[in-house]
Amino acid sequence: MAIEILQTHKLLDSCETALAARYTVHKLHEATDRDGLLASAGQRVRAIAGGNVGPALMDQLPRLEIIANFGVGYDSIDTAAAKARNVRVTNTPNVLNNAVAELAVGLMIALGRRIPQADQFVRQGRWPHGAYPFQSELNGKTLGILGLGRIGKEIATRAQAMKMRVVYHGRHQQPDEPYLYYDNLIAMARDIDWLMVIAPAAKGTDKIVSRAVLEALGPEGFLVNMARGSLVDEAALVELLQSRALGGAALDVFEKEPQVPAALLSLDNVVLSPHQGSATLQTRNKMGALVVANLDAHFAGEPLPSAVV
Ligand code: 8YV
Repeated sequence: MAIEILQTHKLLDSCETALAARYTVHKLHEATDRDGLLASAGQRVRAIAGGNVGPALMDQLPRLEIIANFGVGYDSIDTAAAKARNVRVTNTPNVLNNAVAELAVGLMIALGRRIPQADQFVRQGRWPHGAYPFQSELNGKTLGILGLGRIGKEIATRAQAMKMRVVYHGRHQQPDEPYLYYDNLIAMARDIDWLMVIAPAAKGTDKIVSRAVLEALGPEGFLVNMARGSLVDEAALVELLQSRALGGAALDVFEKEPQVPAALLSLDNVVLSPHQGSATLQTRNKMGALVVANLDAHFAGEPLPSAVV
């Protein structure tokens, strides 16, 4: 008898194929009768592939042993509830570091050099009528990284290749890192040109990029958010961008995805991206393989490749 698992959202085709070859997969996101599916199969489900898992769902799966999240950020899973029920949780770290760091740098250049607007300028036939306005360079500027974790370090390396100075803020100083540490985010924001948000979403980071931080970044400052919308006070961000009290923002993530505040759509000091830090086939294949590897290891009684609980 194949082990039964529950899939909570669409996964990459290669990942779904690998799961179907090993397990009996129940697709909750495709079920027209969600409660019916959980009532009929919930008693037999031993694993979840995917996120969006709270205590109510866990309670409908009494034999649940493991939740294998597709993504490095596992904020959509209630890990305390999982721990309390002896349910393991895994994520997909490292395999996406390069992809996310590349997009982070891409968005910085897009925002500073106004690449999306330049493309529109040419397409709309405006070039023959006058030169495109001057833009802003990265070299010589200071990048402050909020969250010098695995991805943050990849971004730091790339920022140095762009001839930027790198500093960081996080919960702890990392003495082995060569970059200047700030224990106060507002103080860092005052001293930098660019703020890169790449810390995990958690209680301690909710709206950590507050109005005060954004004001400290100031009219010449740029914000890039590659983490989660919850880390930034989005209402304050919109206001400060509108009044030019903040120079600009490049945003890959938003508070209520896929909704984007309408006010942002009309601002030209903003570059918008649809949460695609890890969205290359190369990286998503590796993330999918890690989801499968974690489930395989669990059911073989082997150590989990990337456990968070
Ligand atoms: C998403 C991400 O998980 O890894 C993360 O934390 O934000 C992304 O890779 C991705 O959208 C998967 O659906």
